[in-house]
Amino acid sequence: MGSEKEKIGMIGIGYVGLVTATCLAELGNRVVCMDIDAVKIESLKNGEIPIFEPGLAELIEKNRERLDFTAALEDVFKQCEIVFIAVDTPPTFTGDADLSRVFAVMSSLPGMPDGHHILVMKSTVPVGTGGKISGELNRQKIGSIDYVSNPEFLREGSAIGDFLNPDRIVIGSQAPEAGEKVARLYRKLDKPILMTGLATAEMIKYASNAFLATKISFINEIANVCDEIGADVSVVAEGMGYDQRIGDSFLNAGIGFGGSCFPKDVTALKQIAGNSGYHFQLLTAVIEVNELQKRRVVNKLKKHLGTLTDKTIALLGLAFKPNTNDLREASSIVLASRLLGDGAYVKAYDPVAIPDAARAVRGVLLCDDVLSAVDGSDAAVLVTEWDEFAELPLAEMKQRMRHPLIIDGRNFLDPDKIRAAGFTYEGIGR
Ligand code: UDX
Repeated sequence: MGSEKEKIGMIGIGYVGLVTATCLAELGNRVVCMDIDAVKIESLKNGEIPIFEPGLAELIEKNRERLDFTAALEDVFKQCEIVFIAVDTPPTFTGDADLSRVFAVMSSLPGMPDGHHILVMKSTVPVGTGGKISGELNRQKIGSIDYVSNPEFLREGSAIGDFLNPDRIVIGSQAPEAGEKVARLYRKLDKPILMTGLATAEMIKYASNAFLATKISFINEIANVCDEIGADVSVVAEGMGYDQRIGDSFLNAGIGFGGSCFPKDVTALKQIAGNSGYHFQLLTAVIEVNELQKRRVVNKLKKHLGTLTDKTIALLGLAFKPNTNDLREASSIVLASRLLGDGAYVKAYDPVAIPDAARAVRGVLLCDDVLSAVDGSDAAVLVTEWDEFAELPLAEMKQRMRHPLIIDGRNFLDPDKIRAAGFTYEGIGR
């Protein structure tokens, strides 16, 4: 067992699990996908894809023959030596990661078919978890199981490209042979593979996300200062980005970061540090800056409109970023709640997230297109930089809106064009 092209198991067919399984299939492997949600498994068998991710449906279809779906854990352990775990690890109320789904898998191991298995952790788990699980597996002497940490760095919206063309692959293990077998799955990609210890691999994931989040909060604070002194943060970021030590990515100022990873991982790293007795001051500020940034648009609106009571505000975009229907920790949710709290009416349009928005943002009138969203509104706020918003129907918008005011929460629009169309334009720090 375990040679290339052998079946690989994937436990947890959420976002990460489904993308990883599909890409492993694309590399020529057969993958057995398991989830406890039998309804989801049935729909996947029928070709229904539960998430919106560009290119994923096509890639699943292309690799259909190599992908099996099951709701039974035994099926996975019967057929696969290498078994990935990609269950979700949501934050608990203390900000620690909830590992109950990981432990549920671990506790079923004694009942699983014998043979050598390599458990590969894809889910983001607190630093030290791998060491603890490895120790427990050895202590209980459950069959012959090795444990490998293989953190994912996939971005929603470009996850397939990120998997097939990664900057690096990180493999942490205490068992070199097991680590090597997992590394072999990625050799075809011809990218740097970093072999490390378990805790180091786990830390690389947290440190990478925390650093990127820090970059965003940093540029957002620069933007806030730019607002005060009349500098343009977009050009400041461009000027900084030419410095190769800084780099030009993740320097787009806006109304804060969201999503399923950054907010959760930054908070978890702060907790991990705190639990081990270290106060991570910088991350505390990164989180606070982000929370305040989500609310900054409210003051910008008040500056132009006075009180927001009975004003109508149109939100363009709800997803936490373009090319996804994901609303987790989206800035739109905080902004909408704040506006409603200030007595405004809130209308919104998003190209794909509307069906999911009904639950996430209560009290918001969800619309089918830009024009119905801005109809009768006192301001339009660009929240998510969807491609289709690059060409807004400005003339019709101007006719339909009560006040010609556009707040660009992502510095995405061309200010000259917006102003030439007769609008007041305000970005974030420009
Ligand atoms: C992120 C990491 O990039 C990925 O490596 C990890 O595996 C999961 O978390 P993701 O959450 O999909 O991926 O989105 P990403 O594209 O990184 O954006 C995160 C958030 O930061 C979004 O809300 C985005 O709008 C915001 N962002 C990003 C900025 O505000 N400014 C930027 O310059 C970049």
